[in-house]
Amino acid sequence: MLTHVARPEEILNSPAVSAGLLRVEKRIHRLSTSSRLPLINSAAGRITGAGGKRLRPALTLATALALDGSLSNRVITAAACVELIHAGSLVHDDLMDKAAERRGVRTLNAELGEGRALVVGDFILARAGLAALSSASKPVAETLASVVVELAEGQFQEAAELFDPERTPEDALRSIIGKTASLFRASCLVAHRNGSSMAVYGERFGTLFQILDDLLDLASTADRLGKPVGNDLRQGVYTFPLLLALRHDCADLRPFLGRRLSEDEITLLLARLRRGSMVDDTLEYCRGLAAGALSSLPAIADPQIAAALYGLPAAYIDWAESLVVR
Ligand code: IPE
Ligand code: IPE
Ligand code: MG
Ligand code: MG
Repeated sequence: MLTHVARPEEILNSPAVSAGLLRVEKRIHRLSTSSRLPLINSAAGRITGAGGKRLRPALTLATALALDGSLSNRVITAAACVELIHAGSLVHDDLMDKAAERRGVRTLNAELGEGRALVVGDFILARAGLAALSSASKPVAETLASVVVELAEGQFQEAAELFDPERTPEDALRSIIGKTASLFRASCLVAHRNGSSMAVYGERFGTLFQILDDLLDLASTADRLGKPVGNDLRQGVYTFPLLLALRHDCADLRPFLGRRLSEDEITLLLARLRRGSMVDDTLEYCRGLAAGALSSLPAIADPQIAAALYGLPAAYIDWAESLVVR
């Protein structure tokens, strides 16, 4: 039976964070539609306006409230820039994955073709950098520029290791830290001059967030997720949960690596993985990351913000577990 578990990011949305997100939303819209070319504005605005959980900017706001108790205009800009970098990286990710849909709308690569999608992604990323420099601060702009470098490296590493039968769980983790965890770390860093006290929390949470996304692709269903499963296997992305299972109880599945798989093979593989220890091993690994994240949190005066930051990692793990099919 499917028990209902609330969307985990809702835990962050205290009245103060929600009020801040409304301000962030306006800034995101203004920045992503600020080109002199209307066609860029409609393309960029379509992706940033199509929703998304706004998890990274919510983390920036929660960090600012935890460390400062208030939300300055600079923090609002920093949070908007973090979301723009996420959105720009998704445009490029969908281009690399040849994905047709994102956030319930057609991707830019499907709608406009790869060339235009590529440069709209560039526009969104560069616009974030410029806004950070002019309306946040130089350290925020530096943090965001270096996170774009890390995102590129993480995505490059994953692309270079597609269909690589020698890929290890450690390789997958290195890519996750670059392509996903670095932006969660930066979401905390840009919130406050003492943001580094939350950086480890952001990085560990970001790592478990991506690992759970990878797990659900292998161990949930299209019905539950609202998107097809098995995509990573189909595209030759050997993710952390899969590589962990190959190292533990599913070593006999290795002959399926290093080549394209038929749909029947994917169904068979997913069934074997779900019956084995992959789900439990991955959830246990994520619980370790969650414990590490909590142990690195600084003292937080606001009890609502403290409860949200303490509760967020476990809420994500519980939510993912509720979507798993064994
Ligand atoms: C999607 O991120 C990409 C991953 C890192 C798994 P989100 O799940 O935060 O995407 P949106 O912003 O809600 O669309
Ligand atoms: C997330 O990776 C993309 C970035 C972090 C840039 P995925 O490829 O796993 O995310 P989805 O599944 O497309 O959302
Ligand atoms: Mg993708
Ligand atoms: Mg990808």
